[in-house]
Amino acid sequence: MGILDGKKCIVTGATGGVGRAVVEEFLNEGAYVVAGARRIAVLEELANGWRKRFSPDRVHTEFLDVSDEKSVSSLVEKVLKLFGKIDAVVNVAGYVLEPELWNKRLAETSAEEIFAVMNVDVIGSFLMVKHAVKSMKKQKAGVFINFSSTPAITGYDRGLAYTLAKSAIIGLTKHIAWEYGRHGIRAYTLALGSIETEPSVKWLSKGEYEMLARESPLGRWGRPEEVAAVAAFLCSDKPSFVNGQTIVIDGGAVLY
Ligand SMILES: NC(=O)c1ccc[n+]([C@@H]2O[C@H](COP(=O)([O-])OP(=O)(O)OC[C@H]3O[C@@H](n4cnc5c(N)ncnc54)[C@H](OP(=O)(O)O)[C@@H]3O)[C@@H](O)[C@H]2O)c1
Repeated sequence: MGILDGKKCIVTGATGGVGRAVVEEFLNEGAYVVAGARRIAVLEELANGWRKRFSPDRVHTEFLDVSDEKSVSSLVEKVLKLFGKIDAVVNVAGYVLEPELWNKRLAETSAEEIFAVMNVDVIGSFLMVKHAVKSMKKQKAGVFINFSSTPAITGYDRGLAYTLAKSAIIGLTKHIAWEYGRHGIRAYTLALGSIETEPSVKWLSKGEYEMLARESPLGRWGRPEEVAAVAAFLCSDKPSFVNGQTIVIDGGAVLY
């Protein structure tokens, strides 16, 4: 028995480091998963591996561009045709970490750069909620998980485009909690610290990597599976009276 036995879930950003770990954890816990991303060849390769380890009827893939409303609505329609319901949507998809943009000061940042990140992180998550929530309302149950980052809580002196987008995500989650709580729908934000995925570490020097590890009392980077385990728990029926909260996954660096 898994904590997500029989649940029908959508995971966006499934080709990324965290997204693929979420898909695996959800399959481990008994869920049926529709995994979405734009790099469909990468997604199919991952899915072939998952189908060997888990029952193939529980693994589905779809092209998804979260910033395109037609792509989102078409995915949601397909999932409803396939499963008849949606129990959880995990909005992992996020604008790729570009070192140059991450290091920019406010005065160097353009409005276009802010729009670009917002378009994927905020508009993308909003569109997923907008289209999936209708069926959740009918079934009077459902869970949304949105992805933020610790600078949205503490503030930071660089990377404003990312901080703005990840701050808006926290507002989106709180809005879902208030507007749809009475329909039995819960929402959570996961605010990640340093989680070891390819795009988060590949541009760091050894010294920078080690310095970021030391930011947390646990003295190390987090693993994608450690994020996925929290997401699985939140999408299960266990935290049934927790709603709208931001859960920080950073080894304890940000305590508030
Ligand atoms: N790793 C960290 O340390 C860290 C820290 C704080 C917050 N986060 C957040 O955690 C989430 C996962 O991070 P990660 O490290 O796993 O990042 P990642 O490896 O870069 O994965 C990002 C995912 O988003 C997808 N994506 C990007 N634009 C998309 C679009 N328009 N439509 C659909 N999918 C899109 C990418 O897939 P395709 O390119 O195939 O579409 C990819 O699967 C992100 O939201 C990130 O901002 C991560």
